[in-house]
Amino acid sequence: MSNGAQFDYCFENKTIWRRRVWDAIHHRLSVNGVRPRNAVGLYLAGEKNLDASVAAEHGFDRNNMIAVEWDGGVAEALRKDGVLTFKGNLFSAMNGWSPNVPCHFIVADFCCGLVESTAQDFAIFLSINNALSDTIVAANFLRGRDAFSNVFRSLFAEDYKESAKHRGETFIHILLMMLENNREKSGTPINQEELSKIISSLKRRLFSYKSTSGQVFDSVVFNNVFPAFRSLGDTTAPSTSGQMAALLATRTRRMKSELTRCPVVNAA
Ligand SMILES: C[S@@+](CC[C@H](N)C(=O)[O-])C[C@H]1O[C@@H](n2cnc3c(N)ncnc32)[C@H](O)[C@@H]1O
Repeated sequence: MSNGAQFDYCFENKTIWRRRVWDAIHHRLSVNGVRPRNAVGLYLAGEKNLDASVAAEHGFDRNNMIAVEWDGGVAEALRKDGVLTFKGNLFSAMNGWSPNVPCHFIVADFCCGLVESTAQDFAIFLSINNALSDTIVAANFLRGRDAFSNVFRSLFAEDYKESAKHRGETFIHILLMMLENNREKSGTPINQEELSKIISSLKRRLFSYKSTSGQVFDSVVFNNVFPAFRSLGDTTAPSTSGQMAALLATRTRRMKSELTRCPVVNAA
Protein backbone atom coordinates (compact mmCIF):
# COMPACT_ATOMS: atom_id res chain seq x y z
CA MET A 1 0.00 0.00 0.00
CA SER A 2 1.22 3.47 -0.82
CA ASN A 3 1.95 5.66 2.18
CA GLY A 4 1.10 8.80 0.24
CA ALA A 5 4.61 10.20 0.14
CA GLN A 6 5.00 9.52 -3.60
CA PHE A 7 1.98 11.42 -4.96
CA ASP A 8 2.19 14.76 -6.70
CA TYR A 9 0.33 17.37 -4.66
CA CYS A 10 1.09 20.24 -7.02
CA PHE A 11 -2.25 20.97 -8.73
CA GLU A 12 -4.64 23.90 -8.71
CA ASN A 13 -7.32 22.59 -6.33
CA LYS A 14 -4.66 21.57 -3.85
CA THR A 15 -3.01 24.98 -4.12
CA ILE A 16 -6.38 26.57 -3.33
CA TRP A 17 -6.80 24.09 -0.43
CA ARG A 18 -3.43 25.08 1.08
CA ARG A 19 -4.36 28.77 0.93
CA ARG A 20 -7.72 28.07 2.56
CA VAL A 21 -6.16 26.06 5.36
CA TRP A 22 -3.42 28.53 6.25
CA ASP A 23 -5.86 31.39 5.89
CA ALA A 24 -8.25 29.73 8.34
CA ILE A 25 -5.45 29.03 10.83
CA HIS A 26 -4.20 32.61 10.50
CA HIS A 27 -7.70 33.96 11.12
CA ARG A 28 -8.36 31.78 14.17
CA LEU A 29 -4.97 32.63 15.67
CA SER A 30 -5.76 36.35 15.37
CA VAL A 31 -9.04 35.71 17.19
CA ASN A 32 -6.98 34.01 19.95
CA GLY A 33 -4.53 36.94 20.02
CA VAL A 34 -1.59 34.92 18.64
CA ARG A 35 0.61 36.38 15.90
CA PRO A 36 1.26 33.87 13.12
CA ARG A 37 5.02 34.43 13.33
CA ASN A 38 4.92 33.26 16.96
CA ALA A 39 2.72 30.27 16.26
CA VAL A 40 4.34 26.85 16.67
CA GLY A 41 2.90 23.63 15.35
CA LEU A 42 2.98 20.42 13.37
CA TYR A 43 2.15 19.71 9.74
CA LEU A 44 2.35 16.82 7.30
CA ALA A 45 4.68 18.46 4.83
CA GLY A 46 5.05 15.82 2.12
CA GLU A 47 8.11 15.53 -0.11
CA LYS A 48 7.87 18.98 -1.69
CA ASN A 49 6.99 20.86 1.48
CA LEU A 50 4.55 23.03 -0.44
CA ASP A 51 2.80 24.24 2.71
CA ALA A 52 5.89 26.10 3.91
CA SER A 53 5.79 28.92 1.36
CA VAL A 54 2.00 29.34 1.66
CA ALA A 55 2.34 29.50 5.44
CA ALA A 56 5.19 32.01 5.07
CA GLU A 57 2.94 34.19 2.88
CA HIS A 58 0.51 34.20 5.79
CA GLY A 59 3.21 35.35 8.20
CA PHE A 60 4.25 32.01 9.72
CA ASP A 61 7.92 31.44 10.51
CA ARG A 62 9.48 28.27 9.04
CA ASN A 63 11.50 27.82 12.21
CA ASN A 64 8.27 27.38 14.14
CA MET A 65 6.83 24.79 11.77
CA ILE A 66 7.67 21.18 12.57
CA ALA A 67 7.16 18.83 9.65
CA VAL A 68 6.10 15.29 10.50
CA GLU A 69 6.87 12.43 8.14
CA TRP A 70 6.83 8.69 8.65
CA ASP A 71 8.53 7.89 5.36
CA GLY A 72 12.25 7.70 6.23
CA GLY A 73 13.49 8.85 2.80
CA VAL A 74 11.17 11.86 2.68
CA ALA A 75 12.00 12.80 6.30
CA GLU A 76 15.75 12.72 5.52
CA ALA A 77 15.27 14.82 2.38
CA LEU A 78 13.29 17.41 4.36
CA ARG A 79 15.99 17.52 7.02
CA LYS A 80 18.67 18.02 4.37
CA ASP A 81 16.71 21.06 3.21
CA GLY A 82 16.88 22.45 6.73
CA VAL A 83 13.24 21.68 7.58
CA LEU A 84 12.70 20.83 11.26
CA THR A 85 11.35 17.32 10.83
CA PHE A 86 9.93 14.78 13.24
CA LYS A 87 10.56 11.35 11.75
CA GLY A 88 7.64 9.14 12.72
CA ASN A 89 3.89 9.03 13.11
CA LEU A 90 1.90 12.24 13.62
CA PHE A 91 0.36 10.77 16.78
CA SER A 92 3.78 10.08 18.32
CA ALA A 93 4.61 13.72 17.59
CA MET A 94 1.39 14.88 19.27
CA ASN A 95 1.94 12.58 22.23
CA GLY A 96 5.58 13.64 22.54
CA TRP A 97 4.88 17.38 22.32
CA SER A 98 6.35 19.24 25.30
CA PRO A 99 3.59 20.10 27.81
CA ASN A 100 5.27 23.51 28.38
CA VAL A 101 5.06 24.75 24.78
CA PRO A 102 1.58 25.62 23.50
CA CYS A 103 0.97 23.92 20.17
CA HIS A 104 -0.91 26.42 18.00
CA PHE A 105 -1.69 24.36 14.90
CA ILE A 106 -1.76 20.86 13.49
CA VAL A 107 -2.24 20.39 9.77
CA ALA A 108 -3.05 16.72 9.21
CA ASP A 109 -3.24 16.48 5.45
CA PHE A 110 -3.84 12.74 5.18
CA CYS A 111 -3.82 11.01 1.86
CA CYS A 112 -6.18 8.25 2.97
CA GLY A 113 -9.74 7.66 4.12
CA LEU A 114 -11.00 8.07 7.67
CA VAL A 115 -9.81 4.81 9.20
CA GLU A 116 -10.41 3.55 12.74
CA SER A 117 -6.85 3.90 14.04
CA THR A 118 -6.67 7.53 12.86
CA ALA A 119 -9.95 8.44 14.56
CA GLN A 120 -8.96 6.67 17.77
CA ASP A 121 -5.45 8.13 17.91
CA PHE A 122 -6.77 11.62 17.26
CA ALA A 123 -9.40 11.24 19.97
CA ILE A 124 -6.73 10.25 22.50
CA PHE A 125 -3.92 12.60 21.55
CA LEU A 126 -6.07 15.69 21.08
CA SER A 127 -7.40 15.21 24.60
CA ILE A 128 -4.56 14.22 26.88
CA ASN A 129 -1.98 16.95 26.35
CA ASN A 130 -2.94 20.35 27.75
CA ALA A 131 -0.36 21.99 25.46
CA LEU A 132 -2.82 21.13 22.68
CA SER A 133 -5.71 23.03 24.29
CA ASP A 134 -6.94 25.51 21.70
CA THR A 135 -4.69 24.06 18.99
CA ILE A 136 -6.24 24.80 15.62
CA VAL A 137 -6.58 21.54 13.76
CA ALA A 138 -6.97 21.10 10.02
CA ALA A 139 -7.57 17.55 8.83
CA ASN A 140 -8.02 16.30 5.29
CA PHE A 141 -9.40 12.88 4.34
CA LEU A 142 -10.06 11.01 1.13
CA ARG A 143 -13.77 10.29 0.71
CA GLY A 144 -13.90 6.53 0.22
CA ARG A 145 -11.91 3.44 1.21
CA ASP A 146 -13.10 3.99 4.76
CA ALA A 147 -15.82 1.44 5.40
CA PHE A 148 -15.18 1.94 9.11
CA SER A 149 -16.83 5.36 9.03
CA ASN A 150 -20.03 4.17 7.25
CA VAL A 151 -21.75 3.21 10.45
CA PHE A 152 -20.98 6.56 12.07
CA ARG A 153 -22.32 8.49 9.09
CA SER A 154 -25.59 6.59 9.25
CA LEU A 155 -25.94 7.56 12.93
CA PHE A 156 -26.09 11.27 12.31
CA ALA A 157 -27.23 11.40 8.66
CA GLU A 158 -30.73 12.41 9.73
CA ASP A 159 -29.54 15.50 11.65
CA TYR A 160 -26.82 16.59 9.21
CA LYS A 161 -28.37 15.96 5.80
CA GLU A 162 -26.24 18.60 4.04
CA SER A 163 -22.92 17.27 5.25
CA ALA A 164 -23.73 13.62 5.93
CA LYS A 165 -21.10 12.34 3.49
CA HIS A 166 -18.43 14.79 4.50
CA ARG A 167 -15.54 12.95 6.19
CA GLY A 168 -14.61 16.05 8.20
CA GLU A 169 -18.12 16.08 9.68
CA THR A 170 -17.90 12.33 10.31
CA PHE A 171 -14.54 12.83 11.99
CA ILE A 172 -15.92 15.48 14.36
CA HIS A 173 -18.85 13.23 15.30
CA ILE A 174 -16.53 10.29 15.97
CA LEU A 175 -14.37 12.48 18.23
CA LEU A 176 -17.49 13.63 20.08
CA MET A 177 -18.78 10.08 20.46
CA MET A 178 -15.43 8.91 21.79
CA LEU A 179 -15.36 11.75 24.30
CA GLU A 180 -18.93 10.92 25.37
CA ASN A 181 -17.96 7.28 25.74
CA ASN A 182 -14.92 8.05 27.87
CA ARG A 183 -16.85 10.37 30.11
CA GLU A 184 -19.59 7.77 30.49
CA LYS A 185 -17.01 5.13 31.46
CA SER A 186 -15.33 7.38 33.99
CA GLY A 187 -18.65 8.15 35.71
CA THR A 188 -19.00 11.81 34.60
CA PRO A 189 -21.34 11.58 31.60
CA ILE A 190 -21.74 14.60 29.36
CA ASN A 191 -25.15 16.25 29.48
CA GLN A 192 -26.89 17.91 26.53
CA GLU A 193 -25.91 21.41 27.64
CA GLU A 194 -22.22 20.50 27.85
CA LEU A 195 -22.38 18.72 24.49
CA SER A 196 -23.91 21.77 22.81
CA LYS A 197 -21.17 23.92 24.36
CA ILE A 198 -18.45 21.61 23.01
CA ILE A 199 -20.00 21.57 19.54
CA SER A 200 -20.24 25.34 19.32
CA SER A 201 -16.72 25.92 20.71
CA LEU A 202 -15.21 23.66 18.08
CA LYS A 203 -16.32 26.19 15.43
CA ARG A 204 -15.86 23.58 12.75
CA ARG A 205 -15.60 24.66 9.16
CA LEU A 206 -15.95 22.17 6.32
CA PHE A 207 -14.73 22.27 2.75
CA SER A 208 -13.86 19.84 -0.04
CA TYR A 209 -11.96 19.60 -3.32
CA LYS A 210 -11.36 17.12 -6.13
CA SER A 211 -7.99 15.66 -7.01
CA THR A 212 -6.80 15.47 -10.64
CA SER A 213 -8.23 11.93 -10.82
CA GLY A 214 -11.63 13.12 -9.57
CA GLN A 215 -11.35 11.77 -6.01
CA VAL A 216 -13.10 13.87 -3.39
CA PHE A 217 -11.13 15.08 -0.36
CA ASP A 218 -12.96 16.47 2.66
CA SER A 219 -11.39 18.90 5.10
CA VAL A 220 -12.35 20.25 8.47
CA VAL A 221 -10.77 23.03 10.50
CA PHE A 222 -11.70 23.24 14.19
CA ASN A 223 -10.50 24.50 17.56
CA ASN A 224 -9.31 21.71 19.80
CA VAL A 225 -11.43 22.21 22.88
CA PHE A 226 -11.32 18.54 23.88
CA PRO A 227 -8.73 18.81 26.73
CA ALA A 228 -11.07 21.19 28.56
CA PHE A 229 -13.85 18.62 28.54
CA ARG A 230 -11.83 15.60 29.51
CA SER A 231 -12.94 13.74 32.57
CA LEU A 232 -10.85 14.23 35.69
CA GLY A 233 -11.09 10.50 36.28
CA ASP A 234 -9.23 9.76 33.05
CA THR A 235 -5.59 9.29 33.99
CA THR A 236 -3.99 8.78 30.56
CA ALA A 237 -1.09 11.22 30.27
CA PRO A 238 1.19 12.21 27.38
CA SER A 239 4.85 11.17 27.40
CA THR A 240 7.36 13.70 26.12
CA SER A 241 9.57 12.34 23.34
CA GLY A 242 13.33 12.95 23.16
CA GLN A 243 13.12 13.61 19.42
CA MET A 244 10.40 16.23 19.92
CA ALA A 245 12.25 17.89 22.81
CA ALA A 246 15.37 18.15 20.61
CA LEU A 247 13.37 19.65 17.73
CA LEU A 248 11.72 22.22 19.98
CA ALA A 249 15.15 23.13 21.39
CA THR A 250 16.57 23.55 17.86
CA ARG A 251 13.62 25.75 17.02
CA THR A 252 14.33 27.98 20.01
CA ARG A 253 18.03 28.22 19.05
CA ARG A 254 17.15 29.13 15.46
CA MET A 255 14.68 31.78 16.57
CA LYS A 256 17.29 33.30 18.94
CA SER A 257 20.02 33.34 16.31
CA GLU A 258 17.65 35.03 13.84
CA LEU A 259 16.85 37.65 16.44
CA THR A 260 20.55 38.39 17.01
CA ARG A 261 21.16 38.56 13.24
CA CYS A 262 18.48 41.27 12.88
CA PRO A 263 20.15 44.69 12.90
CA VAL A 264 19.24 46.74 15.93
CA VAL A 265 18.04 50.17 14.89
CA ASN A 266 18.81 52.69 17.61
CA ALA A 267 16.52 55.61 18.07
CA ALA A 268 18.34 58.84 17.21
C1 LIG B 1 -0.85 14.42 1.53
S1 LIG B 1 0.83 14.48 1.90
C2 LIG B 1 1.10 16.15 2.41
C3 LIG B 1 1.01 17.11 1.29
C4 LIG B 1 1.24 18.55 1.69
N1 LIG B 1 0.43 18.96 2.83
C5 LIG B 1 0.91 19.45 0.51
O1 LIG B 1 -0.04 20.24 0.61
O2 LIG B 1 1.59 19.33 -0.50
C6 LIG B 1 0.95 13.62 3.41
C7 LIG B 1 2.38 13.30 3.81
O3 LIG B 1 2.37 12.89 5.17
C8 LIG B 1 2.85 11.57 5.32
N2 LIG B 1 1.93 10.95 6.29
C9 LIG B 1 0.66 10.53 6.11
N3 LIG B 1 0.12 10.11 7.26
C10 LIG B 1 1.08 10.26 8.21
C11 LIG B 1 1.13 10.01 9.61
N4 LIG B 1 0.08 9.51 10.26
N5 LIG B 1 2.26 10.29 10.27
C12 LIG B 1 3.35 10.81 9.62
N6 LIG B 1 3.37 11.06 8.30
C13 LIG B 1 2.25 10.81 7.60
C14 LIG B 1 2.85 10.93 3.95
O4 LIG B 1 3.93 10.05 3.81
C15 LIG B 1 2.98 12.15 3.03
O5 LIG B 1 4.32 12.46 2.75
